[in-house]
Amino acid sequence: MTAPVVEVHLEPGELHAALVDDARQGLLAPEGRKQLPPVWFYDDYGSALFDAITELPEYYPTRAERALLQAHAGDIAAQAKPATMVELGAGTCDKSRIVLDALRAAGCGARYVPLDVSEATLRQAADALSADYPGLAVHAVVGDFHRHLDCVPTGGRTMVAFLGGTIGNLRPEERRRFLFDLDCRLEPGDSLLLGTDLVKDPDRLVAAYDDSSGVTAAFNRNVIRVLNRELGARFDPDGFAHVARWDAEHRWIEMRLRAQGTQRSAVDALGVEVVFEDGEELLTEISAKFTRDQVEAELWESGFVVDAMWDQPGGDFLLTLASPYC
Ligand code: SAH
Ligand code: AVI
Repeated sequence: MTAPVVEVHLEPGELHAALVDDARQGLLAPEGRKQLPPVWFYDDYGSALFDAITELPEYYPTRAERALLQAHAGDIAAQAKPATMVELGAGTCDKSRIVLDALRAAGCGARYVPLDVSEATLRQAADALSADYPGLAVHAVVGDFHRHLDCVPTGGRTMVAFLGGTIGNLRPEERRRFLFDLDCRLEPGDSLLLGTDLVKDPDRLVAAYDDSSGVTAAFNRNVIRVLNRELGARFDPDGFAHVARWDAEHRWIEMRLRAQGTQRSAVDALGVEVVFEDGEELLTEISAKFTRDQVEAELWESGFVVDAMWDQPGGDFLLTLASPYC
């Protein structure tokens, strides 16, 4: 086995500084506008909780996307024929194995470049992949996909995979900027494999984000633990209720934490006290749901043309293969 290369672009100090900035902006915002970006869910514990979410009966996206990959990985390999597969927000790289198998069968994909903020999860995944795929060059990048696209090594024809519906965790303007930045970095012949969750019955959507065993609630509250540990706050995680709500106008699920009674704590790293009035909410994540036309239109606006789309009858989830048009 060849040991994986792991390149770290997010040193602990930098990560801490980014959290301080986000907390200063998001926690000191006026009432009703407190928010944090979802990237702070994913410390080691949060990554393990996400993994548990993917197994929940209510959380259909991972199963739906896996089924689509199983059915169409051969088509993806035949059309994209990448020498390098880059995966953004790769996590445990579990579903990626389906694509890697198909690439190997098609005689391409000699290099795999998973990128994630969650260093321990990424290192573990990279080690396991190197052991299971002798001959595959694994070059992992610990980084932020908003800031470190430039640090991603490419080599020959490249396919960038962005799976799991993670693009839905970006706000529309962030998505546009992200896709545009990505498009600027791709060469003719490169491609993007994008997984998007589709609009469906709001009851199913809400259940997927408010499961009966409370795993998603624990995932949501984990951000309070991260604030306590990293910023010297002393909030009681159980002082916040987990809220998952469908916003029909924006077509996204919002996850929020709602203060149960006044919640206050000094936040040492900010040098101030942060107060949540009773009932006040912290927006922790949006998870946008799409239609096929919307995905095609958003990709086109950012410089991509759709080569193929795959979904299943009933249309829970959508996989799109696209390429830069100039
Ligand atoms: N792609 C996997 C994991 C999805 S969970 C799947 O489909 O199951 C989202 C992943 O994105 C997590 O592993 C998280 O650590 C990572 N992530 C979230 N925000 C990120 C960011 N800004 N930059 C890099 N990785 C990020
Ligand atoms: C990673 N991302 C696509 C997940 C989602 O469904 O938006 C994160 C998640 N949040 C709650 N459950 C899962």
